[in-house]
Amino acid sequence: MLKGKRILLIVAGGIAAFKALELVRRLRERGASVRCVLTEAGARFVTPLSLQALTEDRVYSDMFSLTDESEMGHIQLSRDADLLVVAPATANILARMAAGLADDLAATVLLATDKPVLVAPAMNVRMWTHAATAANVETLKKRGIYFIGPNDGAMACNEFGPGRMSEAEEIAAVVERMLAPAEQPLAGKRAVVTSGPTREAIDPVRYISNHSSGKQGHAIASALAALGAEVTLVSGPVAIADPPGLTTVHVDSADQMLAACLEPGRIDIAVCAAAVADWKAAKPATAKIKKKAGAAPPSLELTPNPDILATLSKAGPERPALVVGFAAETENLVANAIDKRKRKGCDWIVANDVSPATGTFGGERNTVHLISATGVEDWPTLAKGDVAMRLAGRIALHFGRPKRAEAAE
Ligand code: PMT
Repeated sequence: MLKGKRILLIVAGGIAAFKALELVRRLRERGASVRCVLTEAGARFVTPLSLQALTEDRVYSDMFSLTDESEMGHIQLSRDADLLVVAPATANILARMAAGLADDLAATVLLATDKPVLVAPAMNVRMWTHAATAANVETLKKRGIYFIGPNDGAMACNEFGPGRMSEAEEIAAVVERMLAPAEQPLAGKRAVVTSGPTREAIDPVRYISNHSSGKQGHAIASALAALGAEVTLVSGPVAIADPPGLTTVHVDSADQMLAACLEPGRIDIAVCAAAVADWKAAKPATAKIKKKAGAAPPSLELTPNPDILATLSKAGPERPALVVGFAAETENLVANAIDKRKRKGCDWIVANDVSPATGTFGGERNTVHLISATGVEDWPTLAKGDVAMRLAGRIALHFGRPKRAEAAE
């Protein structure tokens, strides 16, 4: 899949550097050639010799090596690749990238490049959640740097939370999507996907929301993009990274989400996976509602939010050719979803049980039923990424452009 592609892998100094060795393997397995830049701190965790053996190329570390400058200057090093991957990306290298420093070979190459850059952060959970790192990440995302991870989990420092570098296989899959969009049955199709929760303000500090993490919706946006669609992902506030290779629009409320869905104009596919709040405060307070001693709690008057799915499903010349909704139910799953599909006017609805015991909200897996006018398909429990790929495959089939694997089914 990556035959002929050249990756420049920058390995910074963190305990996750050992995963860079596995990443070299995964990338080379796919046919890519990999050249490494190893920072001074990175060399404390993996040896140049290991990287050299796995890449079958020399490893670059020293900015002032005359040989490098005559044979392979840092400008050429940064441009001689199709993609730069920083894995692990430490808090330090993210800060240096955001500040535009060129204080070692890795930072200089990153500053000089005109190629896409994918970073896989890895650091202690407190370093990742620190305001300084958050600001650096935001700056880098605005500049078009792609992020994968970090994942949640137990860390080498005995803490738990976000900060673990994505697995080599996950990074290689994203590289593949970025550089080798092999089968593109949805090329030329435009899609809007909604994802995550909405937040409806009660006053400047309080809001109504829900537990959606955006994992399912973001995975669907990525899967459609992987099949060649031009995707706009409209995301409510979530803690996960924007997927690479598509446009992400960030919104808070249902009103903003609807406006962002209508903004791209004519689209072919709409997938509404967001958990949109059905109601909002009728009159959000402009100042914080004060708690007064002895007074009864304030009552909150609610008013309905616009229904984004129903709006997009309305018949007319601008209606997308395929509108897919989700039904989040806690009882009578399939019956309620069948009814919801008709009421909202969408073509398909993906029913999922969101009772707390299922772990659907925020979890990694989902058990869904795909409901159309012609019947109900019961899918097995799958990782959310696999639900997304399967749904994207069905969408490609709908447009008469099956993925090779699906055509063979
Ligand atoms: O984000 P995750 O943690 O990965 O969890 C995934 C999920 C459970 C959020 C997702 O799979 C899901 O079920 N999304 C729909 C949640 C929801 O709001 O369901 P609903 O049954 O209340 O709404 C039905 C449909 O109408 C949905 O497509 C929803 O996006 C849409 N809707 C609802 C209200 C509204 N005002 N506008 C809408 O467009």
